[in-house]
Amino acid sequence: MKNIVILISGGGSNMAAIVKSAQREGWREKFNARITAVISNKADAKGLIFAHERGIATMVLDHKAFASRDEFDGALAGLIERFDQPDEPVLVVLAGFMRILTPAFVARYTGRLVNIHPSLLPAFTGLHTHQRAIDAGCKFAGATVHQVTAELDHGEILAQAVVPVLPDDTADTLAARVLTQEHIIYPRAIADLLQKK
Ligand code: GRF
Repeated sequence: MKNIVILISGGGSNMAAIVKSAQREGWREKFNARITAVISNKADAKGLIFAHERGIATMVLDHKAFASRDEFDGALAGLIERFDQPDEPVLVVLAGFMRILTPAFVARYTGRLVNIHPSLLPAFTGLHTHQRAIDAGCKFAGATVHQVTAELDHGEILAQAVVPVLPDDTADTLAARVLTQEHIIYPRAIADLLQKK
């Protein structure tokens, strides 16, 4: 059985969309895969409640308790390790996980570490993507699912969704429109990865 571990920091709506798709579409039977754990770097992440209610193991690893990024990432890999099997490598899904990962962590999970970013990459890497898209006068915005590499918000593009930017949009209204599309493309991209395996 392939384990999927999802990392979150907050609302966890993408994580919830992935969990719901996995249950609705029967990923266990279809792909021999299951979402085994949800790990948050914040104890008050709302998504933890949803995961717990769905019977998924939840864990908190507070980055503030670690002196360096290396130490935090080492501890994180230690948590994930128990779900990683030589014949069934774990799939690590970043879903609103607001931490930059070290090159060592990324290297360890290359090809099995994915992220969703709320812009049409390669445009607008980093933060405040919606406001930057509005400020730049973009007529379209969107989201990208991509493989994670050592360079932030780069890596092979697995899926994208496009939404219009409307004349009265604020960063919040645009973010909400993009988020509804994220909930569609992220579970689908993961299912595609599991299918290809
Ligand atoms: C999403 O917009 C995602 O693209 C970005 O952070 C947000 C997380 O939302 N990385 P949620 O925690 O999945 O609700």
